Amino acid sequence: MNTANTEEYENIVCHCTGTSQNKIKNLFAEGCTNFDAMAERSGVCSGCGGCEDAVRDLINDLKYA
Ligand code: FES
Repeated sequence: MNTANTEEYENIVCHCTGTSQNKIKNLFAEGCTNFDAMAERSGVCSGCGGCEDAVRDLINDLKYA
């Protein structure tokens, strides 16, 4: 197992879809700068919905970083 993969697993934001913080950061950089766009592209919140606050917080952090 390489370190990149380990990092991916450690930073999962949405466990239902296995979406990592890095993936969200990458999609943000590609233009998914709001929750709806992010959810559509990445699939986050398409399962239990429990990650919504974490995803919104992360997008806000990226916006004001
Ligand atoms: S953790 Fe994201 S939909 Fe369940």
